[in-house]
Amino acid sequence: MKLVLPSVEYKVSFIEAVKELQSETTTMTTRRYRELSIPELEADFESFAEKERSHARGKNQPEGYVPQSEFWFVDGGEYIGHVGIRHELNEHLKTIGGHIGYSIRPSKRGKGYGNKILEFALPKAKELGINCVLLTCDATNVASRKVIEKNGGVLENQVPNPQTGIDKLRFWIDI
Ligand SMILES: CC(C)(COP(=O)(O)OP(=O)(O)OC[C@H]1O[C@@H](n2cnc3c(N)ncnc32)[C@H](O)[C@@H]1OP(=O)(O)O)[C@@H](O)C(=O)NCCC(=O)NCCS
Repeated sequence: MKLVLPSVEYKVSFIEAVKELQSETTTMTTRRYRELSIPELEADFESFAEKERSHARGKNQPEGYVPQSEFWFVDGGEYIGHVGIRHELNEHLKTIGGHIGYSIRPSKRGKGYGNKILEFALPKAKELGINCVLLTCDATNVASRKVIEKNGGVLENQVPNPQTGIDKLRFWIDI
């Protein structure tokens, strides 16, 4: 099990994961991945992987986004999930988004990978100079709350999220 930079090496299992994301009904997973075009990924995966890697340099991101290091969590050479570590917090991230976002592909959930992906991400955050990590999840997201608490998250508060109508829980982890 490890975190790696997005790479063409994981093309086959990544594309399978995108197909899984596209057929599930929840909207909580990385929208960017759900909306990917399979034919475009099949045709030129390297360009996609390079764009993902460039987010760490603040490139190829929507207006107002902060630089974000993207890592893929792999096990046995297969894509399992994604984690994005934001290098700093803007106003939106301070209340809603937090420093770290993660998701496990649907067919691999409930096997302990969620706890592991955050455990592996925390040292990467530390390498980026983040000593106090803000993590958020929807108040209704029981699995994500458990992942955060298992990794030492301390609840600060619960805030309304007008975009979804579902409150966000805000946790801090000192690393
Ligand atoms: C949240 C998510 C990353 C958890 O990943 P996972 O691999 O299923 O998590 P794990 O198997 O490590 O389980 C973590 C804990 O949640 C519990 N859990 C898992 N799925 C659950 C569910 N559907 N309902 C309640 N608890 C659940 C597990 O029992 C485990 O608890 P434990 O540590 O006390 O044993 C995954 O469900 C996911 O990708 N969801 C969609 C994206 C998302 O919500 N990302 C987080 C945004 S804040």
